[in-house]
Formats: sequence, C-alpha cells, structure tokens
Amino acid sequence: EGNELLSSLQVILIFIYTLPTSAPFPRRIFNGQDAKDGAWPWQVSVQRNSYHVCGGVLISESWVVSAAQCFHPSVASSAYRVQLGENRIFGQTRLHAFSLVKRIIPHPSYDNVTLEADMALVELKNPIPFTAAISPVCLLDASVHVPVGDTCWVTGWGNIFPQPETLQELEVVTVNATICNDHYRHGLGMPEGDNPIKDDMMCAGSMEGYKGTGDSGGPLVCEDDGTWYLAGIVSWLMTTTVDGVTQVSPGYPAVYNRPNAHNDWIQANGREAPGRKNSLRLSYLFKQTR
Ligand SMILES: *[C@@H]1O[C@H](CO)[C@@H](O)[C@H](O)[C@H]1NC(C)=O
Ligand SMILES: *[C@@H]1O[C@H](CO)[C@@H](O)[C@H](O)[C@H]1NC(C)=O
Repeated sequence: EGNELLSSLQVILIFIYTLPTSAPFPRRIFNGQDAKDGAWPWQVSVQRNSYHVCGGVLISESWVVSAAQCFHPSVASSAYRVQLGENRIFGQTRLHAFSLVKRIIPHPSYDNVTLEADMALVELKNPIPFTAAISPVCLLDASVHVPVGDTCWVTGWGNIFPQPETLQELEVVTVNATICNDHYRHGLGMPEGDNPIKDDMMCAGSMEGYKGTGDSGGPLVCEDDGTWYLAGIVSWLMTTTVDGVTQVSPGYPAVYNRPNAHNDWIQANGREAPGRKNSLRLSYLFKQTR
C-alpha cells in the first residue's frame, strides 16, 4: 500500500513537472504551409488586448469553441475579441471581421494539470453574418471516433514572435489512442494503468518524427464526402526544457481535445440570450467508424 501511494505520488509529481511545460502555452505550427484565402472559413484568431493568443473555431453564428487554457478567470471577457475571415493577422483586407466577446464559458471539468476537458465556449457579442470567408464547421455526433490513420488538417498562426502573417496549414494523420497513450506514458515515466491520453482526447501527427500542431484552441478538421468536420481542438504536446530552452520533443504526436465528447455540454450552454429567436443551431455529422 505504501509503495503504491509512493508511486502514484511520483506520477503526480512527474506529471506536474512535465506537463506544465507543454500544457499552458499556445502551441505553434511547424512545417506548415501558407493557407489560401478562405480555405478554412471557421478558423478564428482569439485576441486579448488586440494580440493573438489562441486559435478558435466558429461553430454557429454566435459561438466559437476554443481551449480552456486560453482564458484566465481573472481576465474580463471584454479584453477579448475574435478575428474572423482573415488569413493574415492585421491583414485588414475586405474579408476580415472582428467580433467582441460577450461571454466565455470554460468547461467546468477543465483540469489544468491533465488538460482534460480543455475546451471553452466563446459567445460573440453579435451574431456574425456568414460569407464565403466566414462559415461554421460541422460537429461530430457524440458516438463517433475518427478512424485511426485518417488524414486531417490542423491550422493556426502559432505563438511565435514575430507572428507569421499568413495562416499555416499542416496535414496530419490520426494516431491510435492506445498506442499514443502508451508512448506518452513511457515518455512521462508513468506506471502501467496511468493514462495521460484521456477519453476526451485524441492524437494526431507522427510517432516517428514531430510534425507539429497549431495554436491551442485551433481546429483539427477532417473531410468526409465533401463535408468538413471538427475532429479536435489543439490542446497539448510533449516538450522538453534543456538549459532553459523549451523545445518540442520529436516522436510524439500532438494531443487534441475531442469536442464531440462534450456535445451535451455544448448544447446545454451554447444558447442564445433570452429574447433571441434561435438557440444554438449546430449541424452534427454522423460519421461511421470503419
Ligand atoms: C490550476 O488550477 C488551480 C485550481 O483549480 C489553481 O490554483 C492554479 O493556479 C491553476 N494553475 C495554472 C497554471 O493556471
Ligand atoms: C489500437 O491499437 C491497439 C493495440 O495495438 C489495438 O488493440 C486496437 O484495436 C487499436 N485501435 C484502433 C481503433 O485501431
């Protein structure tokens, strides 16, 4: 019993010391390529005091989903805005629009150590008109697990200075969650039975070499028969700190929150203000697992 307690304590300590270096910071894209204008019309830039802090995803006229780690409870929602329809931050083309934020709802189960439930709903001050460059992505039915080996895309600007002007896109492949979990468990020095990849997470990237991920809060989308759906929200990955420099560890796929694991919460919270006609209208896509 004593040994068991000791080993779980070690796990917790290892976790605390390992994940925070990877967890609370928005991630950047590596090896991406410039996205074409309007190619990812649900991509938004979440900005705090006019600075890009995270990615986000438009899911309806009034709602954006992002990561819980992007928001600090002590920062008022009035400090945030979202930029839509624009590939270049500060691009100021006719395509772009800003929306002020009315409300931020972090998932109540968000755990800033394990990064479980790393999701937040962001309500826009006013419903946003859809255009060719601004339109929502489909959500998946709760029962769906995206098949292993599917090719999907992650997009974002990254959290680097100076910021890349143009939205980056990167093709990634979904990775078996059991294998990803074992890989991370070994990497984090956790014993058998501990699962860093929680039920509401998925992995995508490459086991052989690091391919990259977008900004935290940004989308991992996959296509099915011409319809794009939101498979994941960029959450965390493995980093190592050597001589004070934090680097992404090669050989670990990135980890994404699976938003469809939280459909009930999205439906329960993503309501329009009283007096407004429509409640959140989402299109759910049933995708059969192969
Ligand atoms: C994580 O959450 C705990 C309480 O829930 C809080 O005290 C702590 O400051 C948070 N840590 C970070 C890095 O936000
Ligand atoms: C993932 O890999 C495990 C272990 O090899 C295997 O048992 C399982 O069926 C795989 N799952 C999927 C969804 O491919």
